[in-house]
Amino acid sequence: STATSIAQKKFDNCIMNASGVWCYDEKELLEVDKSKAASFVTKSGTLQARKGNPKPRYFETNFGSINSMGLPNQGLEYYLDFVQKIQQQNPNKTYFVSCTGFNVQEDVLLLEKVENSGFKGIVELNLSCPNVPGKPQTGYDFETVDMILKTVFENYEGLLGVKLPPYFDIVHFDQMAKILNKYPLTYVNSVNSIGNGLYIDDAQEKVVIKPKNGFGGIGGDYIKPTALANVHAFYQRLDPKIQIIGTGGIKTGRDVFEHILCGASMVQVGTALMKEGPGVFERLTHELEMIMQSKGYEKLDDFKGKLKYI
Ligand code: DHB
Repeated sequence: STATSIAQKKFDNCIMNASGVWCYDEKELLEVDKSKAASFVTKSGTLQARKGNPKPRYFETNFGSINSMGLPNQGLEYYLDFVQKIQQQNPNKTYFVSCTGFNVQEDVLLLEKVENSGFKGIVELNLSCPNVPGKPQTGYDFETVDMILKTVFENYEGLLGVKLPPYFDIVHFDQMAKILNKYPLTYVNSVNSIGNGLYIDDAQEKVVIKPKNGFGGIGGDYIKPTALANVHAFYQRLDPKIQIIGTGGIKTGRDVFEHILCGASMVQVGTALMKEGPGVFERLTHELEMIMQSKGYEKLDDFKGKLKYI
């Protein structure tokens, strides 16, 4: 079985979409809901709906993707209304709503809206959007992350996880884990895209996306080693009460297996979902089941976090 649980809530699978992919509106969210995915997470909702950056703003390469979407979304209230509806139809399923404010006051306002909506699922607070011109990624400002979490947990009672950018230095893993461990977080989701890469079309000698003169968040094969390092670094450092969601470079069952081996309790799929559509969940689940069967594993706990060292 590929079943898992997050915060004592049971999921019949451990694979779902990554925020931003196939989760912009009711149509896309319903498609993920009726697929083999464990659950869905919505596009990060902001206080006001946003059109996002000018197109082209997503480009698929041989090895992954580059995007600078700029947080196009329907506004948090749209996602809360929709989840309310679908939750009534599926009382035994737990859903995730992502949100992101442009400052701590906005984060508090967003979570107040979540609380007032009667949402019973899990909030994913996005601290890592790399694509809004002029706005640095919160996740790289350690003092601000600490301040946001302090303020948020003084004001919000529900289940809450954070989506983080990738870190690349052992000292940063130590420092961030020390901050995260101060708070009753449900989970840490590593990683968001590697920010501000540049992909070039050599024939045209030209960038491939329009915003920010072609700079954008990198996903796919390029980022799997970084994602696994972040998942495992936080698995080693966080209070075991804080679970890990692994995101980054998952396109085969083997990739899912590796994330879980590094300590993930759930995994999310972005670039491969964008390429393949929600059918990807059935394929990945089947591929994971085959690997587990060949290794004699019956459940995720048989190998979760059990990465061996030399
Ligand atoms: C966008 C991209 C991200 O990686 C993210 O975390 C949030 C938003 C975007 O450009 O819309």
